[in-house]
Amino acid sequence: MSSPPVFSWSDRFLLGHRTIDETHKEFVDCVDALLRASDTEIAAALDAFARHAEAHFAQEDQWLAAPDFPNGGECHIDEHAKVMASVREVQEQVAQGEVDIARELAQALMDWFPGHADYMDSALATWLVKKSHDGRPLVLRRKEHL
Ligand SMILES: [Fe+2]
Ligand SMILES: [Fe+2]
Repeated sequence: MSSPPVFSWSDRFLLGHRTIDETHKEFVDCVDALLRASDTEIAAALDAFARHAEAHFAQEDQWLAAPDFPNGGECHIDEHAKVMASVREVQEQVAQGEVDIARELAQALMDWFPGHADYMDSALATWLVKKSHDGRPLVLRRKEHL
């Protein structure tokens, strides 16, 4: 029997926004746990991933919905919604005993994440960082003296 694939964090995923980077580390951990879960653990691992994804996407969607987000965030929000719809479908299938489909989902998520982070989350992270630098220069100055 071959060992299960492992999804591990790489610093090439870092986008320079602390909250996003922490959330993305959690995403990688949740997908990895799903890949490693036994048949008896997999429903719980999928539920844990679903809870993570809900919070992860809700946080990003809230930022993307800001009226001053450049070029609109609809594509990005849509992509989150499509992933959540797949997760819900897979949860239903797993509840009916089709556990392997959760592993297929985990593989698909592992393939999806780097591109999504590079193209979509990186634009969001850059915008958030710029916005906080422009809006809060005193906070930045104070950090330099610590
Ligand atoms: Fe993200
Ligand atoms: Fe995203």
